[in-house]
Amino acid sequence: MRKHIVAGNWKMNKSFEEADELIDELMSKLEEVSLPRDEQVIICPPFPFLEMASDYANDSYFMVGAQNVADHESGAYTGEVSARMLASCEIDYCIVGHSERRAYYGETDQTVAAKVDLLLANGLKPIVCVGEVLEEREAGRQFDVVKTQVEGGLFHLDAEQIKNIVIAYEPVWAIGTGKTATPEQAQEMHAHIRSLLANRWGKEVADEISILYGGSCKPSNAKELFACPDIDGGLIGGASLKADDFMGIITAF
Ligand code: PGA
Repeated sequence: MRKHIVAGNWKMNKSFEEADELIDELMSKLEEVSLPRDEQVIICPPFPFLEMASDYANDSYFMVGAQNVADHESGAYTGEVSARMLASCEIDYCIVGHSERRAYYGETDQTVAAKVDLLLANGLKPIVCVGEVLEEREAGRQFDVVKTQVEGGLFHLDAEQIKNIVIAYEPVWAIGTGKTATPEQAQEMHAHIRSLLANRWGKEVADEISILYGGSCKPSNAKELFACPDIDGGLIGGASLKADDFMGIITAF
């Protein structure tokens, strides 16, 4: 069976000291609860804090992910961080194709595909984000938009490779806006994504892939969202910056 996953995307927030405090607080709260075996917690802090997070993770309850990776293997790419570097720091996951990367840094489905390949080649699990903007939903094009993103970013993979992918459906109009997709809207899109996966790799493979919801997910709406049959957890932005809020979502299953 596929994993339930709650991943925290810290984005560009916190100082080293604040990051240390948050992880410490989260650790002690995680020690107090017993999570189901099939649930995985992931935190994705900014690059400079990854090693600290991964030191904590060594003896604990969560895994660590990066928020981005270079689309080249190595060499003269000033300011970039490669998949091999992340692997050598024992980072387990990496977010790819977040809508903020697509909107502000020109990331395309082609870039996403290249990053996915490099991550997989280095033993990391990509968390691949897809989702439509408001105008696309208003025009009724959300299913086509997400189909193009899933095909362009992932359809070149084989059945063994796709099993190492986590998909996050994040309607752009819901990210950081306080406007959450209804459970019906989210479930409908998650089922659409799973049927795309089933058509490409077969139902058995599609049933093994975790599909997370992201976009203003908080303790008050997580339960309803996570109760949907095709929603396997969440990619959490704002609410992952406070230990209590994040825990409220982690324990929503
Ligand atoms: P949000 O962000 O939870 O703050 O809406 C989600 C994300 O961008 O991953």
